[in-house]
Amino acid sequence: MSNESLANLLKEERRFAPPAELAATANVTAAAYAQASEDRLAFWAEQARRLSWAVEPTETLDWSNPPFAKWFADGKLNVAYNCVDRHVEAGNGDRVAIHFEGEPGDSRSITYAQLKDEVSQAANALLELGVTKGDRVAVYLPMIAEAVVAILACARIGATHSVVFGGFSADAVASRIQDADAKVVITADGGYRRGKPTALKPAIDEALAKCPEVEHVLVIRRTGQEVSWTEGRDVWWHEITTRQSTEHTPEAHDAEHPLFILYTSGTTGKPKGILHTSGGYLTQASYTHHAVFDLKPETDVYWCTADIGWVTGHSYIVYGPLSNGATQVIYEGTPDTPHQGRFWEIVQKYGVTILYTAPTAIRTFMKWGDDIPAKFDLSSLRVLGSVGEPINPEAWIWYREHIGAGKAPIVDTWWQTETGAMMISPLPGVTETKPGSAQRALPGIAATVVDDEANEVPNGSGGYLVLTEPWPSMLRTIWGDDQRYIDTYWSRFPGRYFAGDGAKKDEDGDIWLLGRVDDVMLVSGHNISTTEVESALVGHPAVAEAAVVGATDATTGQAIVAFVILRGTATDSEELIADLRNHVGKTLGPIAKPKQIKVVSELPKTRSGKIMRRLLRDIAEGREVGDTSTLADSSVMNLIQAQLPSAR
Ligand code: WT7
Repeated sequence: MSNESLANLLKEERRFAPPAELAATANVTAAAYAQASEDRLAFWAEQARRLSWAVEPTETLDWSNPPFAKWFADGKLNVAYNCVDRHVEAGNGDRVAIHFEGEPGDSRSITYAQLKDEVSQAANALLELGVTKGDRVAVYLPMIAEAVVAILACARIGATHSVVFGGFSADAVASRIQDADAKVVITADGGYRRGKPTALKPAIDEALAKCPEVEHVLVIRRTGQEVSWTEGRDVWWHEITTRQSTEHTPEAHDAEHPLFILYTSGTTGKPKGILHTSGGYLTQASYTHHAVFDLKPETDVYWCTADIGWVTGHSYIVYGPLSNGATQVIYEGTPDTPHQGRFWEIVQKYGVTILYTAPTAIRTFMKWGDDIPAKFDLSSLRVLGSVGEPINPEAWIWYREHIGAGKAPIVDTWWQTETGAMMISPLPGVTETKPGSAQRALPGIAATVVDDEANEVPNGSGGYLVLTEPWPSMLRTIWGDDQRYIDTYWSRFPGRYFAGDGAKKDEDGDIWLLGRVDDVMLVSGHNISTTEVESALVGHPAVAEAAVVGATDATTGQAIVAFVILRGTATDSEELIADLRNHVGKTLGPIAKPKQIKVVSELPKTRSGKIMRRLLRDIAEGREVGDTSTLADSSVMNLIQAQLPSAR
């Protein structure tokens, strides 16, 4: 974020008090902050009791071997039981759990009782295929209700799921399957996107050529498109699940049993397998969903527009809402299919009361025009959430005015794949909100901003966001790499968790997030590392060297801009640039395709050979180039600029 927009942010003086009616009936009041600060662990022990335990925990936190935490370690529970069966047992089996809306317009509503049957059948099917507790199962699916069923079936039998976003390429899937050593893959023939079926199975077939350890592929039929079939390995989901019993007795697993691995980009090329476990994770996913969205399960209709392949889908489509017995909408497709009002049509159709989406989507809706949401009845909406990147005040105000009728509170929720659940956010019945600020750590969470020397900054100053106490849904490690876990998160500021985000405290002590300080880009809310894109580019025969930066972009937050040095034999042409973009798309997935690729003859490097991306970012954002004194050769920047007359 530029200094100019930062200064503007902090001049923001608009304030919005919670609606009186919401405040009066809110699930969580200001007392929660006081209670949690008095005894943080007692506070979390109480939240853990919102769940149903087979063996109640007597220990809250074991921090005897930091940074390796254990929460509720002597407790036992079944996560899927908590998300499904207990609601049926409480007499709410007829409540709709999922209103599924397919992109082509097909829809299906699934009650908690039906969900229990489907999850049990899927669990029995996995057992029949030889999946046992502790095995890893990769999930590569479109946004269909079966994705939730598949995830819960894994959780139910204690298999650790590793969901890979359906937009990722075969190579990306293969490396994730290998790293997690998955035994079974659950996929679909395809899903509907942008008005047509998009195949998924071919990517799995290609990936599995490199993953001989995978024993079975379960294939859900969604689009009916042609699929190639490996006899003995591939199994149709509908064939194996429908012949299973709808009874499955959930076993209680240890609170620290591995629930899932989810890969996120690191600053070095290899993605990090973030490991989450059961009891602490579910406690915080469930509590934050209850507190931050003020969910009233009997009357609310909740909709989180994220994909299940990202952590937002894990915590706020699967585990948070279902553990709270919510009725929710799941939508398969894109917001502009078949028209740009599709989201608002869905809100109207189901009477959505709580909407959780991303700033990049909000900015897109702004671009499409105010008249589009205005055509629909959005009066059911009472709480609006934002996640994924800093939300600029313009988008915040637009969201409030045009979607929230100028009265629904906005909760700007800061968290990460690694934190597992929300960490910093307003509470809708308590907080006087400020456009653009996530404001304050949630009850039971300790966050602050420090300078380079790890000193807490005073109000009105900026630095790095750190978390100063362990929290229940924290990552437990990086799968298979404890040292990388320590180095990445706990070494920059010893004893504190380094989030990798810049932040500022305003005069009231409220926190404003300012984007990544490391080399991870945020494109439409997706975390992509510069190094990964660089490696992909250099993997192309025409490219000798590459440097990638995230340039501020009005729609996507950041856009990927690549600077490449071609090999002697290659020449700069439109075809080559298109080829390079496609190559990155094929290697990492379409989301990682650079928006611009600029051919240069040199890259700015320090004497130790580190690329100075800061200077390239200056060029990509059309600014005057900053201090070049630490470059090995300071004339390089002049050379690059001379080669890029139209640098913008
Ligand atoms: C990074 C984590 C959290 C689920 C989706 C992304 C950025 C996330 C906010 C917010 C400012 C935010 C941070 C964070 N981020 N939410 N409300 N305000 N920045 O999960 O892919 O692990 O990315 O997203 O930079 O570090 P993720």
